[in-house]
Amino acid sequence: DSYSLLILPGDGIGPEVMEQVTRVIDWFQANRGMSFDISTDLVGGAAYDAHGTPLTDATMAKAQEVDAVLLGAVGGPKYDVLDFSVKPERGLLRLRKEMDLFANLRPAQCFDALADFSSLKREVVAGLDILIVRELTSGVYFGEPRGIHADDNNPENEGGRVGINTQRYTSGEIRRAARSAFELARKRSNKVCSMEKANVMESGILWREEVQWVHDNEYPDVELTHMYADNGAMQLVRNPKQFDVIVTDNLFGDLLSDAAAMLTGSLGMLPSASLGAPMENGRPKAMYEPVHGSAPDIAGQGKANPIACILSFAMALRYSFDEGEAAAELERAVEQVLADGVRTADLMGPEGGVPVSTSGMGDAVLAALSAG
Ligand code: NAI
Ligand code: MG
Repeated sequence: DSYSLLILPGDGIGPEVMEQVTRVIDWFQANRGMSFDISTDLVGGAAYDAHGTPLTDATMAKAQEVDAVLLGAVGGPKYDVLDFSVKPERGLLRLRKEMDLFANLRPAQCFDALADFSSLKREVVAGLDILIVRELTSGVYFGEPRGIHADDNNPENEGGRVGINTQRYTSGEIRRAARSAFELARKRSNKVCSMEKANVMESGILWREEVQWVHDNEYPDVELTHMYADNGAMQLVRNPKQFDVIVTDNLFGDLLSDAAAMLTGSLGMLPSASLGAPMENGRPKAMYEPVHGSAPDIAGQGKANPIACILSFAMALRYSFDEGEAAAELERAVEQVLADGVRTADLMGPEGGVPVSTSGMGDAVLAALSAG
């Protein structure tokens, strides 16, 4: 099968970690009969330097066309002085907005060899593999009315102002996020837990009803449970392995995915994906990227851990290309490398290990892939 891929390495350590991913892609082309039609382009500060904009229209158009976009990271101190309209982050935001990537996927996967890096006890997190699906384009961060106003009719209000945000969800917005979660669950262990606060929020009641509706009408084969989000936060740190896919709104998803990330250790390990509506070929619009930023403090030194970016590509294999076997193979290779004690600086703990550079980690992953 042939897949089209737009690679946007970006700034700082972005190009360094992406270089290791392109080696992994080459390995799958050479050894697993896959064929990738790859284009590479600039984003963020790199695009600003070349074109005066963090994302050109041509790159945007290309992103709309391909099966998946793979992005490194954007930003850096050099660009902090730029006007907001051309800041590197704007390139990322434009991609998310124009591709309408409404479902943000944040896996929390704890490799056994790194279980002691977790904020929690080893037995609670070892082998953990859950996926949080956060609705990304609606909810309280976007709802109207919003703003800070004078609270003129309320003389009792010391300070005299009121700040307003509105949690607003349409049934359509909830249903499409729910569909993403159910689709993903079918490629995993077929279990979804939906989180809201239907006990105190109208939007929470609608959320619960619409997720249930999508389940009953379209995905009755997937196991669905509901949980209040505050209890969900507690359960995530008490017994995270009870979950597989968690689907939740924008605000709760922001908090729960950051908390879940800390179950697993280093920022250099965390992949993510953002998915939109299915395209004509049935694949969702998709962008895959590590959770970390451009890490200017270590950029250019060969210290960056490429695993977050490599695991982001594994997500692309599973969720865009339906190559679940290959995704699992890549994840097993990463697991093997970690079990062998191969460590970039961010993963070096008190027990020591084999210190490697960014490309050394790439070498190790390729060797593990070849060794099977
Ligand atoms: P950061 O994620 O770039 O770095 C935070 C810390 O984690 C640093 O000490 C860094 O060295 C370390 N780190 C990050 N990724 C690593 C990796 N793969 N291997 C080893 N260590 C790693 O976040 P920070 O410092 O807040 O932001 C730096 C720049 O990145 C800023 O310009 C920011 O706007 C941008 N940024 C971009 C994001 C994106 O492109 N999606 C996300 C977050 C920040
Ligand atoms: Mg956050």
